[in-house]
Amino acid sequence: MTTETPAPSKPRVLVLFGGRSSEHAVSCVTAAGVLEAIDRSRYDVIPVGIAKSGQWSLVSADPAAWSLRSDVLPEVTATAQAVVMGTADGGAGQELLVAAPGSVPESLGGVDVVLPLLHGPFGEDGTLQGLLEMADMRYVGAGVLASAVGMDKHFMKVVFAAAGLEVGPYTVISDRQWRTEPEDSCERAAALGFPLFVKPARAGSSMGISRVEDPDGLRAAIEKARAFDPKVVIEAGIEGREIEVAVLQGRGLDGPRTSLPGEIAMQPGDHAWYDFEAKYVDGAAAELSCPADLPDDVLDCVRVLAGEAFDAIGGEGLSRVDFFYTPDGRLVINEINTMPGFTPISMYPQMWAKSGLGYTELIDELIGLALERSTGLR
Ligand SMILES: Nc1ncnc2c1ncn2[C@@H]1O[C@H](COP(=O)(O)OP(=O)(O)O)[C@@H](O)[C@H]1O
Ligand SMILES: [Mg+2]
Repeated sequence: MTTETPAPSKPRVLVLFGGRSSEHAVSCVTAAGVLEAIDRSRYDVIPVGIAKSGQWSLVSADPAAWSLRSDVLPEVTATAQAVVMGTADGGAGQELLVAAPGSVPESLGGVDVVLPLLHGPFGEDGTLQGLLEMADMRYVGAGVLASAVGMDKHFMKVVFAAAGLEVGPYTVISDRQWRTEPEDSCERAAALGFPLFVKPARAGSSMGISRVEDPDGLRAAIEKARAFDPKVVIEAGIEGREIEVAVLQGRGLDGPRTSLPGEIAMQPGDHAWYDFEAKYVDGAAAELSCPADLPDDVLDCVRVLAGEAFDAIGGEGLSRVDFFYTPDGRLVINEINTMPGFTPISMYPQMWAKSGLGYTELIDELIGLALERSTGLR
């Protein structure tokens, strides 16, 4: 009798992208990078796109379908072939179904891990993570609470301050406050001193953010932010260099790993700050240098603080932590991103590349961390 060893089955990775947030196109561009780089000899890839309407579909695995071509932004469009996910089934393994109207749903087979390449609300904010928890599906990155805290520019500051990290002066205008006491709200904001940065509490990619130079511009800036989120965060402008650190969860019981810090420097030109155009449209507007040109003790310090910020929110998987380095030598934390820009040329993968971990290996590492971890209590 001969026994044949079955070929070891490869983990099946559901690459999930697009989504309902204003960062839909950015997510597609990330997916193009990941679909190109993911090691197909190690993983079976199931590409699933989420249309702006929220519908999930089985989509093309061809990176070219999602890359940024000249001025056309990639977009997932809803198809008749909707992908649906069941709820937890007591451990028999999670299956996805493809359902077209009028036909019997077809199984896509089991999924071992989800790689959510989604930015912003309904992707990076804990809602998707909650859905995956309910379905007993493993996924890459932060859990429910850490995602929600990392998405909210108000609560992340509360958590950072409680952990002893320095946050800049800020105030919050809730929907009720703005509707019942707009004058007081404006006065409270103006008291921080101009220039101010007015931001939707839960957005990203600089969308809805304005730099306001004087009281005249305040109301319009608040209304603009409110178009993204009824909760608005207003911050005193901080003079300083923008320093970022890529954080990767440690293996086993190890603490977080941190990359060499990078610096985003705005080139002289049309952009006074790192706005949407500078991030995605005008490639020459900002320059990344990594490692940042800073004394060794400052580089060490910012890495320690980045690890502390990751732990403060209960981070898992990955995060990018952004600071201002002020002329008087303080490191003020700006924000944490639990699903940072992840195209091959984005800061996060670039900083790891400079630190010796390439893009394909980084994807591998993230999937490995997610496969090691069970669902629940996250
Ligand atoms: N308090 C601030 N002081 C100075 N510049 C700021 C401040 N807040 C934001 N900025 C500028 O705006 C950019 C985007 O703000 P950020 O809070 O990082 O929003 P996003 O989550 O959209 O990236 C920053 O990279 C920085 O250039
Ligand atoms: Mg930012």
